[in-house]
Amino acid sequence: TVEALTDGYGRVATDLRVSLTDRCNLRCTYCMPAEGLPWLPKPEVLTDDELIRLVRVAVQRLGITKVRFTGGEPLLRPNLPAIVAAVAEIAPRPALSLTTNGIGLDRLAGPLRAAGLDRVNVSLDTLDPARFAELTRRKRLPDVLAGLAAAAEVGLTPVKINTVLMRGINSDEAPALLRFALDHGYELRFIEQMPLDAQHAWDRKSMVTADEILAALQTEFTLCPDPAHRGGAPAETWLVDGFTGGTGRPARVGIIGSVTRPFCGDCNRTRLTADGQIRACLFAREEANLRDALRAGADDAELARRWQIAMRGKKAGHGIDDPSFLQPARPMSAIGG
Ligand code: GTP
Ligand code: 5AD
Ligand code: SF4
Repeated sequence: TVEALTDGYGRVATDLRVSLTDRCNLRCTYCMPAEGLPWLPKPEVLTDDELIRLVRVAVQRLGITKVRFTGGEPLLRPNLPAIVAAVAEIAPRPALSLTTNGIGLDRLAGPLRAAGLDRVNVSLDTLDPARFAELTRRKRLPDVLAGLAAAAEVGLTPVKINTVLMRGINSDEAPALLRFALDHGYELRFIEQMPLDAQHAWDRKSMVTADEILAALQTEFTLCPDPAHRGGAPAETWLVDGFTGGTGRPARVGIIGSVTRPFCGDCNRTRLTADGQIRACLFAREEANLRDALRAGADDAELARRWQIAMRGKKAGHGIDDPSFLQPARPMSAIGG
């Protein structure tokens, strides 16, 4: 029997975001410090079997229909194709996607597609190699470009690109990034920077807003509102006049305006961290420890019940605009993007 994950505001979570690791092979300046972070000790991280069991509970008892793997950098997780294959075997089969920085995707795209992954979203903030090295503190732009190409090649489509614009750093690149995406059939989305960095250095004034991004794109492109139904998706999308997208779809560009155009009212997400904690929201201040319950012998019904309870406490919104706003205790890389 399925009992949906409903919160106190009537929202129903049907999307599960699973973080596979808190580690990363890049050091994006807006995410973590150069030296990295104190990574989770291995015994605290869910084993493959534990993770697969929790996803099965979510699909079969809680009505989850979409599973997205995130990190940290999910491609760093050992045995990733086997994990994807096991989740793809869960009935009813959930839609499977992955959000990655693209490093290693050139090799893994084929095995992941064969394992049952449906599509990928790849993070890319600049097309300039020197800027990329400055921004991520690693010289890996060619790896990301190769990863994107491999994903499209094996049919992990639509391949989407996520870009965070930062004022004075890459904020001049919006039209060039869109042109690149249109040329290759990738669907580009710009993301407003959120206060989720490990350094707690986020500042509203340096955030490039959805309005500014739109204005920058409209200097070179004609954008028409997308008639497609948005559902609970964070991205607001526009059709790019005069272009066709990959796989014959209309060419789209998206903006994820989490801060200035919040979509919390339509949120359909629940999260599982790499160490087995349930979070009702990216910005939640509470986590429910499913790992310890599982390791103490809880059965599936009990795990489902605890997950339900965790979601009932979900807040109406992220609260970034409240004077009393506090960043969550863990940064985005540890929660899952
Ligand atoms: P699709 O549209 O299904 O391709 O995926 P997505 O956009 O939901 O997933 P992706 O992992 O690519 O997320 C892109 C960005 O959306 C993230 O980096 C976040 O900035 C933002 N995002 C995802 N989930 C949430 C959420 O629950 N709350 C907020 N505020 N932002 C989110
Ligand atoms: N605000 C918005 N997006 C962020 N990302 C990482 N940190 C932040 C932040 N503070 C992005 C990454 C990646 C996606 C998963 O989240 O650049 O594209
Ligand atoms: Fe890694 Fe993503 Fe953080 Fe960059 S933003 S350091 S790719 S986890």
